[in-house]
Order: sequence, then structure tokens, then C-alpha cells
Amino acid sequence: LEDADVVADWAARFVMQRVTQFAPGPQRRFVLGLPTGGTPLGMYRKLIQFYKEGKISFKYVTTFNMDEYVGLPRDHPESYHYYMWNEFFKHVDIDPAQAHVLDGNAPDLVAECARFERLIQDAGGVHLFIGGIGPDGHIAFNEPGSSLVSRTRVKTLAYDTLEANKRFFGNDISKVPRQALTVGVGTVMDAKEVMILITGGHKALALAKAVEEGVNHMWTVSAFQQHAQTLFVCDESATLELR
Ligand code: F6R
Repeated sequence: LEDADVVADWAARFVMQRVTQFAPGPQRRFVLGLPTGGTPLGMYRKLIQFYKEGKISFKYVTTFNMDEYVGLPRDHPESYHYYMWNEFFKHVDIDPAQAHVLDGNAPDLVAECARFERLIQDAGGVHLFIGGIGPDGHIAFNEPGSSLVSRTRVKTLAYDTLEANKRFFGNDISKVPRQALTVGVGTVMDAKEVMILITGGHKALALAKAVEEGVNHMWTVSAFQQHAQTLFVCDESATLELR
């Protein structure tokens, strides 16, 4: 697609179409996986607009976020809890008890990751997992070298990710948390459908590695070549390295 705005609009319409077509109800919830970061912001804004126009309801939608930093207070402006509440959840009719974000302050982080996997299973699996990728091809916080069958776990972040995210921490890399909780590649691969949003020339190499070379754990997003129903929604600049 042309640019990031068109990608946002397209992605929001796709979500709306999937949710409304499913016709969720109290006994039949639609399960959505969600990313944070800069890329999906436009999509969230559009979804809020569609909600306000009465075109979509999130009342019977259950969500699972991809990841959360370890050790950032929940109300820290850079925590993914804070992001999700401010950029999306508080503006729509979602049931707060059904909007799941990993707890990066849980006393037992390993147990928290296991709990999250169980919750996804109990919800019947994810219908549509939306993701974003880093310039190094990471999806969620599955950094280069992550197992392609990984599950939700504690992950130490790669230097590239700290570097890419420092803009959210006053450009001070020492303030970026060193660890995060993240769904695994395998967790996302289990979703019935996956939609990955990729915008900007700085992601062009990652997109080329994702779709034009072999499956490789050094570019974890390439795993989705082996997923039956994955869609990459890209703007033109992200496609510049494609052959
Ligand atoms: C977000 C996530 C990451 C980001 C990626 C791109 O929950 O898990 O994979 O999608 O780091 O971030 P932005 O969109 O800020 O370029």
C-alpha cells in the first residue's frame, strides 16, 4: 500500500471485517492478539473511530498483547499496559477483564508466562494475531536467534531493540528495560490468522528476509512462511529491498 496511513486504514478495516463477520457474543468471543509500538497506532485510532461511529463493538472481544517490559511500573508512560489503555482500550467498550497484558512485575515471571499461555488456550486460541516487526526481523520480542517454536517467556533484549526503543526513553539507552515478557514465535504461529504490519524503509531488509529467503531463526518473522494464513500489510518504502 501507498504509505503508513493507508496501511493503518486497511488494517483497521480488516480487523473490523473479521470481528463483525464472526458476530461475537457472550458464548462466542472473538480472540485478538495485539501489538504495541509506533506502527499500529494509526490502526488503533481508526478502530476507535469505527467504534464511535457504531460500526464495531469490542464487547465480546478478548485480547492478548504480545509483550510487556519487565520491571516498569504499570502506570509508567512507556509500559505496554499504559500504551494499550491510553491508545486503545479506554476509548472502546472492551471488558477490562478480557484485555490481557502480561504482567512484567509479577513476583514469578516464569509462572506469569505459563498463566498467559493457559489463558490463550482457555479462550480457545487466537483468531487473529496482529504483529509488528523490528528492523532486525523480530516479532514481539523474539529477537534474532530465538527458537521458532518458542512459547511465552522472559527474554533479554538485543542491543538493536534497546537502540530502536530508546527514543521512547528520552533517547537514553540506559533507561530502556533490559528484559521483557513476550509471546513466543510458536504462540503466534498457533493463531488461525496472522496479520503483520510493516511500514518504513528501515524495515525493508527485514521484509525481504521475511519473505524472499529461507526460514531462519536469525530473522524470526521468516517463520511465518510456514503459517497457512499470514498476511503482511506493507507500505511502499518497506518493499524497496524486494526483488
Ligand atoms: C510490539 C512488538 C514489536 C514491535 C516492533 C516494531 O508489541 O512486539 O515486535 O511491533 O518492535 O515496533 P515499531 O512499530 O515501533 O516500529
